[in-house]
Amino acid sequence: MADCKANIAVFVSGGGTNLQALIDAEKAGIISSGSIKLVVSNIRSAYALERAANAGIRAEHVSKKLLGQEGFEAKVTELLEEEKIDLIVLAGFLCILSSDFTKRYENRIINIHPSLIPSFCGEGFYGLTVHEKALEYGVKVTGATVHFVNEIPDGGKIIAQKAVYIEEGDTPEILQKRVMEQAEWIILPQAAETVCRSIIEKRQES
Ligand code: GAR
Repeated sequence: MADCKANIAVFVSGGGTNLQALIDAEKAGIISSGSIKLVVSNIRSAYALERAANAGIRAEHVSKKLLGQEGFEAKVTELLEEEKIDLIVLAGFLCILSSDFTKRYENRIINIHPSLIPSFCGEGFYGLTVHEKALEYGVKVTGATVHFVNEIPDGGKIIAQKAVYIEEGDTPEILQKRVMEQAEWIILPQAAETVCRSIIEKRQES
């Protein structure tokens, strides 16, 4: 029945708590239409690679620094083809992909962003900075968004969003943790399942 599942690759750059949420969701059956086959990191020391290895998932470091944008994408494409990947999940992957790459995988790349897009997004808005900006602005509600990836940073079609309240005394670190716990780790696996299911349905129709 392996063919009945979509093959997932997860791209990461850091700690990988969102990757862990995806791994746990697959184990728990929340992701039942897809299977994580590959984890790619542009950073060799990313703890996310260890999480992948611990779960028995192929984990690869590909250096964008050494290979440049084109070389990086060529190597990654090779890996994606080897593993017959249907869906790429960007889970804390802090590199921009070229429009050639995103066009090739149209509607096959999704990203988690730690704000309610269109607020606090686009170039330069990643990780803790997003929460710093939200607190600086003084918004009372923030959250997370899962969206398809196209050539515009954080500009693709929105798949899921979840709001999170800002509380008195929040620091960027406290807010980041709450947004992860209350939004990211929930909506990313759900969105991955939704997209995998639709990939399989389309495959069965054709
Ligand atoms: C997450 O908060 C994710 O939303 C964010 O980086 C963090 C990675 O944490 N991504 C972006 O800011 C992308 N623009 P993790 O490595 O523990 O999943």
